[in-house]
Amino acid sequence: MNAVLEVRNLQKYFGGLHATRNLSMSLPQGELHAVIGPNGAGKTTLITQLFGEIRPTSGTVLVNGRDVTSRPPHERVRLGMARSFQITTLVRDLSVGENVILALLAREGHAFRFWRRIDRNMDLRTRAAQALARIGLDGMDMSRRVADLSHGEQRMLELAIALVGDPALALLDEPMAGLGSEESRAMTRFLSGLKGRITILLVEHDMEAVFALADRVTVLVSGEIIAVGTPDEIRNDSRVRDAYLGEDA
Ligand SMILES: Nc1ncnc2c1ncn2[C@@H]1O[C@H](COP(=O)(O)OP(=O)(O)OP(=O)(O)O)[C@@H](O)[C@H]1O
Ligand SMILES: [Mg+2]
Repeated sequence: MNAVLEVRNLQKYFGGLHATRNLSMSLPQGELHAVIGPNGAGKTTLITQLFGEIRPTSGTVLVNGRDVTSRPPHERVRLGMARSFQITTLVRDLSVGENVILALLAREGHAFRFWRRIDRNMDLRTRAAQALARIGLDGMDMSRRVADLSHGEQRMLELAIALVGDPALALLDEPMAGLGSEESRAMTRFLSGLKGRITILLVEHDMEAVFALADRVTVLVSGEIIAVGTPDEIRNDSRVRDAYLGEDA
């Protein structure tokens, strides 16, 4: 079938801790699928297994029908996966454009001998501008120093850089973390602009963003899926309210 991501019976033990409990999920092409749940539920552990940074104890991960369970992260990137990190991956003293160019070069495996010529390399600059435009950041001034961007702008640029290779599937771990409400709304608009073009698994605590963006939501508690549904179904699910959302949902 045409699931971009398919996870079958994933299990992860950290010693005696059962961090992922027989987890199965399937993301069709273009879906924005949110994974929510309390702290320690196993959301990041799920992402690190999907990206190949840690090996599951058992289970299978398929990307576009290919079994990637034992592939390292760089091979998964080649097969169309991208992942955003909590920690910043930007070079603060370089410009927006230079950061995008570095990502383009890294993706293509260029050696650093090209580095000295970047300033004059119009082709790379044009491609960097195109990469930003493709994901809706063409309003960002390429010559600005990263250190001078707002926190929200830096987070969006990080995402842009993670997505520079036109991935089929993006794994996003809390892109709204640390953003103010106005910045969160800007990030929500930004992710909304990617919807449908990239299949996205979004781990996020910001419920306003989750309910605005997600086609479907999976709720994880203690490593186990307790509910899957549309935002409306999840909002109105009494088990989910009890386990996670609380009264203010
Ligand atoms: N490398 C590890 N070794 C041992 N235990 C780990 C490891 N990584 C995560 N855990 C444990 O696995 C459980 C799930 O952690 P995880 O970081 O995936 O939760 P999370 O849902 O991402 O939480 P948060 O919302 O706080 O980010 C926790 O109990 C955590 O302590
Ligand atoms: Mg986490």
